[in-house]
Amino acid sequence: MSIIYGDRVRLRAVERKDVEQFHEWINDPEVTAGLALYLPMSMRDEEGWFEGLASRPPQEKPLAIDCRAGEGWKLIGNSGFFDLDHTARSGEIGIMIGDKSYWNRGYGTEAMSLLLRHGFETLNLNRISLRVYARNLRAIRSYEKAGFSHEGRLREAVYKRGAYDDVLIMSVLRSEWDAGRK
Ligand SMILES: CC(C)(COP(=O)(O)OP(=O)(O)OC[C@H]1O[C@@H](n2cnc3c(N)ncnc32)[C@H](O)[C@@H]1OP(=O)(O)O)[C@@H](O)C(=O)NCCC(=O)NCCS
Repeated sequence: MSIIYGDRVRLRAVERKDVEQFHEWINDPEVTAGLALYLPMSMRDEEGWFEGLASRPPQEKPLAIDCRAGEGWKLIGNSGFFDLDHTARSGEIGIMIGDKSYWNRGYGTEAMSLLLRHGFETLNLNRISLRVYARNLRAIRSYEKAGFSHEGRLREAVYKRGAYDDVLIMSVLRSEWDAGRK
């Protein structure tokens, strides 16, 4: 797989040099509010995560999100597919823009659109879904903009920071994505 380019954003393989930045982001409570991360993470934890990537199926390796910065590129987040089912041709997707100064500027939606293109046109998936906490309004809005439909609600399925929250299931089918591109 080669680098996936959009207008302002690109998706590329995660490198060892990214790990320090990821470590900072996944310890930021504002970033992790919407993520299934509960405990402080050490650099050693994060390096262990990176080492573990070597044994993941190639299609489920995470993708770093870079945005254009002058003549070069700047790391702003990461993303990836998991739980791919090759019989049903379905998979789940996750995304994090870790650099908060890039929130609400359309980068998450653009990165998600690139991930959908990758999922449908390269991985040949038929259904791409995600789970999002009901309180995570920014994420929900961004997924709606990228073409996801609301599919279901798991009531009080997560407990985070002293309160239960519902988990929403959202998805895009290949037929919907094709129709949206016409
Ligand atoms: C969720 C995330 C990927 C979205 O990326 P982003 O680049 O910030 O999103 P975008 O700018 O593309 O779109 C955000 C939309 O939500 C809207 N929004 C922001 N805060 C909102 C709120 N409190 N209520 C409703 N809408 C809100 C923005 O106005 C924008 O919509 P608009 O373009 O119609 O104005 C990113 O914020 C992120 O990674 N957050 C931290 C980790 C996380 O929560 N990941 C998702 C786990 S499921």
